[in-house]
Amino acid sequence: MIDGRMTATSTLSSVYPVGSRVNEHGRLEIGGCDAVELAREFGTPAYVVAEDDLRGRARAFVEAVGARHADYDVLFASKAFPCTAVYRLLAEEGLACDVASGGELYLALRGGFDPARIYFHGNAKSAQELREAVKAGVGHIVIDSLDELSRLEGVVAELGRRQEVLIRITPGVAGDTHHAISTGQADSKFGFAPDAAREAIDRISGAPHLALVGLHFHIGSQLLELEPFRAAVRTLAALGDFPVYNVGGGLGVAYLSSDEPPAIADYVDAIVSTVHSALGADKRLLLEPGRAVVANSTVTLYTVETVKRNVSTWVAVDGGMSDNLRPMLYGSKYEALVADRALAAAGERCKLAGKHCESGDVIVRDVWLADPAPGDVIATPVTGAYGFSLANNYNGVPRPPVIFCRDGDARVVVRRETYEDLVVRDVL
Ligand code: LLP
Repeated sequence: MIDGRMTATSTLSSVYPVGSRVNEHGRLEIGGCDAVELAREFGTPAYVVAEDDLRGRARAFVEAVGARHADYDVLFASKAFPCTAVYRLLAEEGLACDVASGGELYLALRGGFDPARIYFHGNAKSAQELREAVKAGVGHIVIDSLDELSRLEGVVAELGRRQEVLIRITPGVAGDTHHAISTGQADSKFGFAPDAAREAIDRISGAPHLALVGLHFHIGSQLLELEPFRAAVRTLAALGDFPVYNVGGGLGVAYLSSDEPPAIADYVDAIVSTVHSALGADKRLLLEPGRAVVANSTVTLYTVETVKRNVSTWVAVDGGMSDNLRPMLYGSKYEALVADRALAAAGERCKLAGKHCESGDVIVRDVWLADPAPGDVIATPVTGAYGFSLANNYNGVPRPPVIFCRDGDARVVVRRETYEDLVVRDVL
């Protein structure tokens, strides 16, 4: 079953993509492809995506909402993995799309999304970005401030168009997550507190070219409890009766096999039942999961460059904070294994370090690795969300390729960056 709590097909940790296993050579296999062979063929570091896992999770969302509510759309929060192949695949699976900048709008259009099913967010959208969105014909623009409202009124009038909008509400609900990715609390740069929202609602209702169709919230990310979602839905009821409600994303995933996120179906059930009781069963309901669709689909492969033993055993690989910034930004924890000996009894307690010139560039602070040696391939699972999008060129390190794997076939959907790419914007 593809859901928050699926089990892998071998004794591999449950956080690997569905269908992952340890093959007859004792190596990790993703989407039917031997990880050590992938590393040889495509080089490392590399983001390896199990296509079936990605499709499965997208379907799990659509099926879970469709089974419980008539009028809905599931939007992919594309900041989580903004790569054309991912946009395409999720458009194929019938998802709609949320974008948070003109750049993401460009990518979503290029990835094949119907503009009417693209929804535009952001707390500091520029006039130019608003113009691009209105011209493209996006479904909703989610208004985040009165300044943006004035800007949007100007843009829509200038283009002679009419635009459907939602208002982003900050419900005053803080989920239990890292402070950097909590957005629902009163002291937030996002949205309108319920009282301030009333003024915005009045102003939009008087705007000739804008049609206020509903409300939106997004209370934070990597949330492992359902109650904050229910509480946030309830706060919307006091603001009037609207035809559309967008309840954001935020469902957490298992980074470690000991993590226990709610199953997709349980999350959807909590949202839908609260929407039905607090707002009504006849509403158009939009959900916008990012992480829960893409995170577990992807494994990053690295190659060990050095093993150094001092107070700790430092296993240093050929990537790090340039391809996965999350340990440094949020102290996020990951699992890791030696892909060449995926089932070997855990050997040595290690620190899995990156190659960058900062002591904080440690991918996993405490991990047991089976006899790690230079040349070994290391896999870190659950890197599909916000790994690719937060990637950078620190220390002039080219960003990794994205490899899609399915039924034993592997194809490059984003090539590795080259040194020439590093200077391509130079104007000398
Ligand atoms: N909707 C809105 C308006 C959002 O701002 C976000 C995420 C989502 C949906 C999707 O949330 P998700 O389902 O992925 O939790 N870089 C951080 C995460 C930042 C999330 C920003 N907003 C990380 O790596 O954990």
